[in-house]
Amino acid sequence: MFKTAIITASDKGFAGLREDLSGPLIKQLLADTVYDIVSYEILSDDKDYLTKRLKELCDTDISLILTTGGTGFSPRDNMPEATKAVIEKETPGIPEAMRAYSMKITPAGMLSRAAAGIRKQTLIVNLPGSPKAVKECLGCILPSLEHGLKIMC
Ligand code: MTE
Repeated sequence: MFKTAIITASDKGFAGLREDLSGPLIKQLLADTVYDIVSYEILSDDKDYLTKRLKELCDTDISLILTTGGTGFSPRDNMPEATKAVIEKETPGIPEAMRAYSMKITPAGMLSRAAAGIRKQTLIVNLPGSPKAVKECLGCILPSLEHGLKIMC
């Protein structure tokens, strides 16, 4: 089993003004798989706080951090920047695959700036924010993720 953390980045979700559907959907999509969800949190879109929290989680024995939200063009979309500040190695094939797959579904797929990479023994993958995008992007990468994580250990 791979210990997995889920982070939803959403100012509105953090303030309790919007129900987070995407974090729980990730949990649901990973139920009865090799991914053991050990942490789920809703954070604000503050870049410094996201960076700090990602670092803290990478310093544990968590193998995978899946984030949702904050990958678009709005001034408060900071998840790719926080991720890039933390990772030691980029894994560009993951966001490339997600965007290529997404573009077959919607032209708006190009608007996600999602990043992914490895810090120590932890892989961080950004997913876009909407439940629809989460389902599509996670479905795209899930078949290959396990092989990558096995090689990292
Ligand atoms: N990717 C997929 N597969 N399906 C989608 O519906 N929505 C896009 C894009 N990627 C979408 C997608 C849209 S509309 C935006 S604005 C960006 O993801 C960024 O989303 P975020 O800011 O919620 O992270």
